[in-house]
Amino acid sequence: MKTLCLYYSRTSMTRKAMELLAESTGADLYEYTDGKDRSGLLGYLGACVASFRKTFPKVYIKGDPDLRAYDRVLIGMPTWAEGPCVIGRAFIRQYRDELPQDVYYVVTHMAKNDYMDKIRAMDSLLGRPSKGQLSLQTKNHDYLRDVRAFAETL
Ligand SMILES: Cc1cc2nc3c(=O)[nH]c(=O)nc-3n(C[C@H](O)[C@H](O)[C@H](O)COP(=O)(O)O)c2cc1C
Repeated sequence: MKTLCLYYSRTSMTRKAMELLAESTGADLYEYTDGKDRSGLLGYLGACVASFRKTFPKVYIKGDPDLRAYDRVLIGMPTWAEGPCVIGRAFIRQYRDELPQDVYYVVTHMAKNDYMDKIRAMDSLLGRPSKGQLSLQTKNHDYLRDVRAFAETL
């Protein structure tokens, strides 16, 4: 089973989760982005603005992997404004026809509550049911332990 891990990450939490998932599953790892620098306070404000825009930004994968060479893909992204961030949703919408059949979502967040309903709702962008979902609380919490447990289920 050839696995691809993809992530978007502003402050490295999602990146660390996806690095561990890639390591645990023997997957290749790539970053996707809309190309905007969202570091620091200005970047935070930019993320807020992007969250409330009606349109999806154009995104791309750094290193341009051949998506059709994989059997499954794990797509990581943070939560922004009470749901999976607009960059991740834009990614799914833009790449859905090229993604392998088995798609998993990994969504990080600070809040203790999970965002499962909104994570599963991304299936409407994918155009088919995703195979698995992980809602991952990152703050004040050993979230990498949860990542390891999720990796065991794959
Ligand atoms: C603009 C913005 C909005 C956010 N909104 C939420 C939110 O509604 N709920 C939540 O739990 N975390 C929220 N967060 C926190 C991030 O989801 C969380 O810190 C995440 O793990 C960061 O991942 P990253 O380091 O990969 O960017 C928000 C972060 C940003 C930048």
